[in-house]
Amino acid sequence: MSLAIHALQQSFASCFGQRATYHVRAPGRVNLIGEHTDYNDGFVLPCAIDFSTHVLGRINGSNRIRVVAADYHQQWDDILLDDAITHHGEYSWANYVRGVVLMLQSQGAALVGCDLLISGNIPKGAGLSSSASLEVALGLMLSTIAGCALSRLQLAKAGQQAENRFVGCNSGIMDQLISAQGQPHHALLIDCRSLSATPVAFPREWALVIINSNVQRGLVGSEYNARRAQCEAGAAHYGVGALRDLTPEDIGDIAARLDDVTARRVRHVVTENCRTLQAAKALAHGDMATMSQLMAQSHASMRDDFAITVPPVDYLVTLVDSIVGSQGGVRMTGGGFGGCVVALMPVALITEVKSQIATNYPKHSGLTADVFVCQPAAGAEVVAQP
Ligand code: GLA
Repeated sequence: MSLAIHALQQSFASCFGQRATYHVRAPGRVNLIGEHTDYNDGFVLPCAIDFSTHVLGRINGSNRIRVVAADYHQQWDDILLDDAITHHGEYSWANYVRGVVLMLQSQGAALVGCDLLISGNIPKGAGLSSSASLEVALGLMLSTIAGCALSRLQLAKAGQQAENRFVGCNSGIMDQLISAQGQPHHALLIDCRSLSATPVAFPREWALVIINSNVQRGLVGSEYNARRAQCEAGAAHYGVGALRDLTPEDIGDIAARLDDVTARRVRHVVTENCRTLQAAKALAHGDMATMSQLMAQSHASMRDDFAITVPPVDYLVTLVDSIVGSQGGVRMTGGGFGGCVVALMPVALITEVKSQIATNYPKHSGLTADVFVCQPAAGAEVVAQP
């Protein structure tokens, strides 16, 4: 998806009086399978997508970072690099900026005063990681300007720390890692314990379709943190460091001794890890029939055991599944409670899927869905620097 960079340059010049000399971008992501497994040291299989957050920048010779959010009516923030960094009381986007600045500083980076303008085309609040892409883009911009090269892993970790320690969501590492390390035409099988990432080619004849339910995601942060706490309680019950260490056989007999809710959360994570490893193999072999089954099982597990889907999203999954059958796969993607559905299918079925969604989804939910046909894309990059 192209964004009018020329128009952003004009905005930058009208805000700061000169053109930007730096430009970075970092993509959003869609997760093919492996949901709520990352913070359990498990496996995930995301792709970076061709929607990005862009940051334009210029060194300003002062000790402050001035930053404009072009997509939020040119709201401003001004961060003094020598002062203690506190939360912004009004603008939530500004806390991602402040969080990244603080994490880079606490890692010893000598940041340089600069002017920044942020804009992007990732649908916000849709579960496609617009916030992780902002964190990664900012980390790349600020470290590039300061002349301190950070590895992709360091960039991802700084973003996650900003989210965990400053913004207050205990998210895992998946979103930042795929935004930093994505590869064109590939998904990455990430082992969230070792943090190793193995590229898996995405079959050229498969279409990657994202359907935004446009359900407003409520309670995401509190429900997310609650799921994480339940998983940790489950791991403690079994005496393991993380749910990654359990197999389906381990939980067969003794699940009865856990309360019902925790047992379900554990079962989702343990079975989802198995499905993700199987899905990476199916993807590598272009085996859509297996992928179709695994994605269906993953969705059912998120709906029934992890309790993170909502009825309009379940409806979209059922509708798409009724069209694509074993020729495609479909499931909710991301943290849950609204957001997006990811579907894989032959290109020939896209028109029918779009038309059925346009006709039936509004009748069923009172909402309109947006359908995007995406490409697995490259991770963050410095597009321009002096
Ligand atoms: C959000 C979090 C990720 C991951 C997913 C669920 O996107 O940021 O770390 O936990 O939810 O898989």
